Amino acid sequence: MASSAAGVVAIVGSGLIGQSWGMLFASGGFKVKLYDIEQQQVTKALENIRKEMKLLEQAGSLKGSLSAEEQLSLIRGCASVEEAVEGAMHIQECVPENLELKRKIFAQLDRAVDDTIVLSSSTSCLLPSQLFAGLAHVKQCIVAHPVNPPYYVPLVELVPHPETSPATVDRTHALMQKIGQSPIRVLKEIDGFALNRLQFAIISEAWRLVQEGIVSPSDLDLVMSDGLGMRYAFIGPLETMHLNAEGMLSYCDRYREGMKRVLKSFGPVPEFSGPTVEKVNQAMCVKIPDDPEHLAARRKWRDECLMSLARLKRQMQSQ
Ligand code: NAI
Repeated sequence: MASSAAGVVAIVGSGLIGQSWGMLFASGGFKVKLYDIEQQQVTKALENIRKEMKLLEQAGSLKGSLSAEEQLSLIRGCASVEEAVEGAMHIQECVPENLELKRKIFAQLDRAVDDTIVLSSSTSCLLPSQLFAGLAHVKQCIVAHPVNPPYYVPLVELVPHPETSPATVDRTHALMQKIGQSPIRVLKEIDGFALNRLQFAIISEAWRLVQEGIVSPSDLDLVMSDGLGMRYAFIGPLETMHLNAEGMLSYCDRYREGMKRVLKSFGPVPEFSGPTVEKVNQAMCVKIPDDPEHLAARRKWRDECLMSLARLKRQMQSQ
């Protein structure tokens, strides 16, 4: 367990993702300073975090070795960016996904920091070269993209600006591991990073299969949840190839031509509009009506599933 002396982390933007980061850093014993442009949002965030941590503690799913009260005592709100950044070793920016807004925030942070702090963005799809262009402290800048909900899904994509120093990447990688996340290094920036490129490839073929009337929307989702997803929670597509034959070389020998034939039959990028949207939407709404109550209930169920899965994964690793 890290002690609070391990460091101070500043969170800029205390919405959904800012709150999750706050909880994760506190679980690792870090002092957390939360800032938001809306002061009442900081108050709301602190209340949400308290409620969430107490529930997690009751369910035996609180991360880290400190109690909920001990973790909560590490988190406090701040009235200005300058106050939040003071004494911090890492800043995690979590403001809305808007390039101009984020550039403004990073320019402000750039003026407020020294040469030792890491400036990290939670952006889902903005490129580091756009976000951090022209900053004096560009060597200390990095994207650390979490996956929603970060408390249950540990992956964090680390994406450097071309001028980010290797030390910044290494330090952020170590920090993410220290708070129990699972960081990966995206070695060169690319639109969509790694996770969304894979996700969009799946969505794209899912859409085409439904659009062409080959599989119904509900059966399509079963292909993932009761098929591919079963093993992908534990092993990735490359290890799957390795295990599905006598090693990778044998898999490629056996399936190379078949894979290429099928891949060549994939259609163009879907429009995600028109009658297929109607069809998919109708099927989804039969299962989960799209009013706030039903959606919230289903998200709660999803998070409970992810919590149990995280427990199972820990158990399997320790065997
Ligand atoms: P959100 O809308 O829940 O929270 C954003 C917060 O930033 C709000 O509380 C807002 O008041 C605050 N804010 C706005 N302007 C500000 C400023 N100038 N200074 C300080 N605070 C300011 O957004 P969410 O979902 O937490 O997203 C934050 C970032 O995380 C985005 O870049 C998003 O792409 C990324 N992200 C979101 C995921 C998601 O599923 N929601 C997943 C992974 C990354």
